Amino acid sequence: MTSSEKRELVFATNNPHKLSEIRRMVGDSIRILSLEDIGCHDDIPETEPTLEGNSLLKARWVKDHYGKDCFADDTGLLVDALDGAPGVMSARYAGPACDPEDNMSLLLKNMEGITDRRARFMTVITLIEGSDVIQFKGEVNGSIATHRDGTAGFGYDPIFIADESGTTFARMDADAKNAISHRGRATARLLAYLKDGECHRL
Ligand code: IMP
Repeated sequence: MTSSEKRELVFATNNPHKLSEIRRMVGDSIRILSLEDIGCHDDIPETEPTLEGNSLLKARWVKDHYGKDCFADDTGLLVDALDGAPGVMSARYAGPACDPEDNMSLLLKNMEGITDRRARFMTVITLIEGSDVIQFKGEVNGSIATHRDGTAGFGYDPIFIADESGTTFARMDADAKNAISHRGRATARLLAYLKDGECHRL
């Protein structure tokens, strides 16, 4: 790569919310490509029983099939009173349609009458650069609200109250959420590594 060429990394997602969150954090330093940008329309398997495994599976898929340096994330919402559910099943909690409204409705239903509402989001990012494979983790503690509140963000944001803000993620603007969120923290660690070689492995 010459000094005039910008470093490129594929982010193994087509989720527009995740792409804009990460591009906002990365700024101009690195060109982040989506799966769409590299012509990948594959149904990438997420069959591992852990966030670490699924994150690695997605990144490995892009590297093996498209030959690109890349990173992939996998996120779970872990609820204490539900023994860590929905966890690795967060996207498909209410079924294979991966519908966020259905997922939230089911979680609120399963939390009815439960007073211990503690939960946390966890993200694992796997970076594959050349032959190097490195994982970064980010977490945020909070609780499950009793009803939806707010319209920003995506996924479970309307029912997740972060301890540090006291509001649901869906009531926070993008920068405020990125500053404390699971993915924001994992991404900050990824960026520190990419910029300075500083590494906080799992
Ligand atoms: P995945 O990383 O796309 O597999 O995410 C798993 C599930 O967690 C999906 O249902 C997402 O919508 C949800 N999720 C991931 N990140 C966030 C977030 O930042 N806020 C709310 N929900 C999220």
